[in-house]
Amino acid sequence: MKKTLTSSKSAAAIFAAALIVSCGSEKSSSGNDAAVQRQSEAVSTTAAPVAQTQTSQAQQPAAFSPYVDADGNISRPENFLNDPNWTHIGNWTIVNENGEGNGLHNVYTTYDAVKAYRASGVFPDGAVLVKEVLGANANNLTTGRVHWKGDNAVWFVMVKDAQGRFADNPLWGEGWGWALFQADNPAKQVATDYKADCLECHVPAKDTDWIYVQAYPVLSEK
Ligand code: HEC
Repeated sequence: MKKTLTSSKSAAAIFAAALIVSCGSEKSSSGNDAAVQRQSEAVSTTAAPVAQTQTSQAQQPAAFSPYVDADGNISRPENFLNDPNWTHIGNWTIVNENGEGNGLHNVYTTYDAVKAYRASGVFPDGAVLVKEVLGANANNLTTGRVHWKGDNAVWFVMVKDAQGRFADNPLWGEGWGWALFQADNPAKQVATDYKADCLECHVPAKDTDWIYVQAYPVLSEK
């Protein structure tokens, strides 16, 4: 196997590797009402807009998050790297058994979520976290053995739901919506059931609302 992951088919490999690496090392790492209202407003106009509104209802954003529609479908925040309301809160480097980097994980959220967390110690309703998983390039540079950004692989997205809005949706539970997007088709959400796809690996972080907050000291810095 090559030491660097540069092909886009590494997306699945990285997800699979993340499953093995993270679960295996877990112990040692210690460590719509608005849509309904819009629809009823439309009823008093002509027939055509009514039909249109009904068919597009599922695409209406839920009031609490621009990334969640009225049915609880989660979309990927696309422009967070260029959006001044977003900020990087931490990163992880995953190495394989040879000590070589095989994944760089960058975690982002909004400034509003950071401010609210600093004030209350919890993620506010609607808070969205994106973990961007990148393949890693590696080489010896003048600073040592260095790993840097390879191809985009996957994005893990979590949206805080403090009200249990989507009890019947298998991507929602434990106070969060859970979603996964892959680089070969970034618009398509591919997780099917958070209990099977996500939850077990987040159990070590259960006491901190399922989030590995130790890597995000910015959340507690004043
Ligand atoms: C193989 C175990 C594993 C699986 C499966 C997994 N996660 Fe994680 N996740 C982790 C670990 C460990 C971290 C922090 C360290 C890292 O990134 O390697 C993390 C970090 C995250 C983060 C950054 C915030 C945080 O908790 O630190 C998000 C967002 C996230 N995961 C969402 C998801 C979603 C959504 C799913 C399911 C689609 C999922 N994860 C599946 C282990 C996993």
